[in-house]
Amino acid sequence: MPEPATLSNVLPWRATVLTLFPELFPGPLAASLAGDALQQGLWTLDTMAIRDFGLGRHKSVDDTPAGGGAGMVMRADVLGPALDAAIAANPRAPRIYLTPRGAPLTQAVVRELAAAPGAVLLAGRFEGIDQRVIAARQLREISIGDYVLSGGELAAMVLIDAVVRLLPGVVGAAASLNEESFEQGLLEYPHYTRPRDWEGLPIPEVLLSGDHKRIEAWRRAESERLTRERRPDLWARRKREQ
Ligand code: ADE
Repeated sequence: MPEPATLSNVLPWRATVLTLFPELFPGPLAASLAGDALQQGLWTLDTMAIRDFGLGRHKSVDDTPAGGGAGMVMRADVLGPALDAAIAANPRAPRIYLTPRGAPLTQAVVRELAAAPGAVLLAGRFEGIDQRVIAARQLREISIGDYVLSGGELAAMVLIDAVVRLLPGVVGAAASLNEESFEQGLLEYPHYTRPRDWEGLPIPEVLLSGDHKRIEAWRRAESERLTRERRPDLWARRKREQ
């Protein structure tokens, strides 16, 4: 039966990115899977330049931190109007601030965002943004990992890329999504292809057996072994959730 038409399956997923460096976009998102999907209209990308909302002759966007200290802080009276313009362009989308202190971007979060109409993404620079903006515009803080980038733009691209490949019609076979790393809470099993022998290294015999049950069991065991060895955190969570 065809799915009933809802706003989320007739309108493309809409990314609205607020940045000081709009020229960085679409960047890598113009290539490959995400780029093809963008061209096909399966998602849309708008960037808005925070500088356009800057104050005074110098279009200033930042100031020194209240209480002193190093670095600069992006001003609430710049980001407020900038966010309001982005929200007006993408009113039903969750509002996200990319920051290393945010909640981790996991595949579960990616799935949740892919089910939304899109995202308003604020990419910060400098030391941070005025805290009042986060509260007043209900920004969800998301981190792409425990390291510090020089700005949120690359993090926004990572988030968008991870979401776009889950949108209907972007990746051909749904099965190839389901078997991937993290979808089952496990890391992916090893892959092989021709030639059968390469530099004296054979393809594991089981994969050439044609016995689909054995192959599935081997892949499962390899996924579990790799997850135990490399990601004890994922392994422990999986055991708790079972
Ligand atoms: N901005 C700077 N570092 C970041 C990170 N790790 N995740 C998200 N946004 C960031």
